[in-house]
Amino acid sequence: MQHLPSVDNAWLLMDKGVIIDYGDEKTPRPHANEVIDAAGGMVMPAFCDSHTHIVFAATRENEFVDRIRGLSYEEIARRGGGILNSSARLQQTSEDELYATSHARLHEMIRMGTGAIEIKSGYGLTTEDELKMLRVIKRLKATSPIPVKATFLGAHALPAEFKNKRAEYITLIVEEMLPAIAHEQLADYCDVFCDRGFFTPEETDQILKASTALGMEAKIHANELDYSGGIQIGVSNNALSVDHLEFTGDDEIKALLGTRTMPTLLPSTAFFLGLEYPPARKMIDAGLPIALSSDYNPGSSPSGNMNFVISLACIKLKMTPEEAINAATINSAYAMGLAGKAGCITKGLPANLIITKPVSALAAIPYSFGLPLIQCVVINGENLN
Ligand code: NIG
Ligand code: FE
Repeated sequence: MQHLPSVDNAWLLMDKGVIIDYGDEKTPRPHANEVIDAAGGMVMPAFCDSHTHIVFAATRENEFVDRIRGLSYEEIARRGGGILNSSARLQQTSEDELYATSHARLHEMIRMGTGAIEIKSGYGLTTEDELKMLRVIKRLKATSPIPVKATFLGAHALPAEFKNKRAEYITLIVEEMLPAIAHEQLADYCDVFCDRGFFTPEETDQILKASTALGMEAKIHANELDYSGGIQIGVSNNALSVDHLEFTGDDEIKALLGTRTMPTLLPSTAFFLGLEYPPARKMIDAGLPIALSSDYNPGSSPSGNMNFVISLACIKLKMTPEEAINAATINSAYAMGLAGKAGCITKGLPANLIITKPVSALAAIPYSFGLPLIQCVVINGENLN
């Protein structure tokens, strides 16, 4: 986590959108038709954001104000707000409208330095509306200049009409939604909100076993609200990542060590909801890797600014700048199946890069929280600024 290789006074050659070569001042700089002078700035891989919910119909400022006045996130959810509020709005919104608004969000994130992204469904909560969300993500995949991965999150909240029929909703997911999604090849991964007041480890296990059999690996929400058993159930289902992890103790760390499952932390959610922060330092010191993502969604993290996420990781999680940047690039790429394909500066990879303003040290990037320290963003070799 602490090892972040760098080259001083470097040059980097791009051609046709791909990184061709790089070197230091001693290696002869190849001829280029066009030159971008980083002028004292740093050239970094663009951020990878492996956990987002950017397809949504409406923002939820009213709940934000309710929380300022004292209601908790869980109380709002119990009163039918929260995810169910977003679901009602999404069900009334057309696929084209959802595509237009989420496309705008995606491009705003790219301009802030995001160079690869995962997007979840989970505000549909009926077969038809989950398919609608996933078709929007499929369209984003087809038109986006950056890699996009799709995750099915039908088990995000229990719809009100299933209030006393939990098992029936799980059956609907397993027997109707998952096969329909697999048939249209709409999702790379399957997620479940495995936590107190949402879905149990047993329900999660049932859904993940069915999704894995259909070729959708697990990437789940776990241990945001309690020691819910979500981390263990994710690991036992060979999840690619388990995300949130505010409630991580010794047993959870033990369960994660030596597995393929990437612990993914979303500090802007803990910041926005006023939750305990996950014990990142303890996890890293125990030998775990960490990925960082934005969780961009209308309820618990209405921002896709990865630069702010790395600042929070340093300030609140006590991660070093090197650890935070590794977590937000190469490790987050791994957490969405893009290991070796994004999140690093490697010959042959798409030239998705951030060039910062002049900085005296790497630490200046997370230190300058909230400031636009990015000079320009390069996507597939093209300077967006
Ligand atoms: O990751 N925790 C569950 N899902 C989202 C919140 C979704 C919402 O409130 O709309 C999250 O925080
Ligand atoms: Fe989330």
